[in-house]
Amino acid sequence: MTIHFAHMGSSKERPENTLPSFQRALEHGAKAMELDVQLTKDGHLVICHDQKINRVAAAAGAAGFIKDFTLEEIEQIDVGSTFSEEYKGVTLTTLDAVLGICPPDVLLNIEIKNIPFFYEGIEEKVLDRLAAYNHTENVIISSFDHHSLKRIKALAPDTRVGLLFLDQLIEPWHYAKNCGIDVYSLHPRYVFIDENYVKKCHEAGFKVYPFTVDDIDMVEQFMAYGVDGVFSNNPEIFGLECCT
Ligand code: G3P
Ligand code: CA
Repeated sequence: MTIHFAHMGSSKERPENTLPSFQRALEHGAKAMELDVQLTKDGHLVICHDQKINRVAAAAGAAGFIKDFTLEEIEQIDVGSTFSEEYKGVTLTTLDAVLGICPPDVLLNIEIKNIPFFYEGIEEKVLDRLAAYNHTENVIISSFDHHSLKRIKALAPDTRVGLLFLDQLIEPWHYAKNCGIDVYSLHPRYVFIDENYVKKCHEAGFKVYPFTVDDIDMVEQFMAYGVDGVFSNNPEIFGLECCT
């Protein structure tokens, strides 16, 4: 089955990684969603792509690292206005809030942002919230920090983990086999993918989910290569009929 991930929700139509963005993706019939998780100063799991709030809060003039704000402070910062005046007042959201609206049949890819900052204890907290919302099976946890995924597997061996790659590694399927983690999927940058790449990953027993592909023709090309899905910001893609 091919399944496409709504990257940061429906991030072309709503402020990325916010509740309206995830709600919009669900309205499109997305069967999978991706989000980026970080820790606040007081230990709450908030959803934000960048380590700093600056870009998404540019219109509000707020600046600083997520790790240096409390959740209460984060919840007072408008990140909607930067996207459009229509979303003025929208703030960053929490993993709890997303889990609260995510139906059990929707596959959630939680990316742990652990670079360059090390968020001590983030793995335990993510697993704790997934258990609290009974969303432990329909989930893939991914990270560019593969040590973080190793900690996830040590804490919860049945949790599926996906290796994120920013660089062009030589034969990453060998790395995935030998890195000491029971890996479920490889999440490479789309520019590295060809038919042989997908074939080798499948032969080694891994799913392949390239990021981030917004062009429909390109998605069709990747599907012809046999990928298991893509990450996309384009609602036409994550709403594709082929996802079922
Ligand atoms: O998880 C896929 C993709 O989101 C990883 O890269 O930079 O968009 O978080 P980035
Ligand atoms: Ca991400």
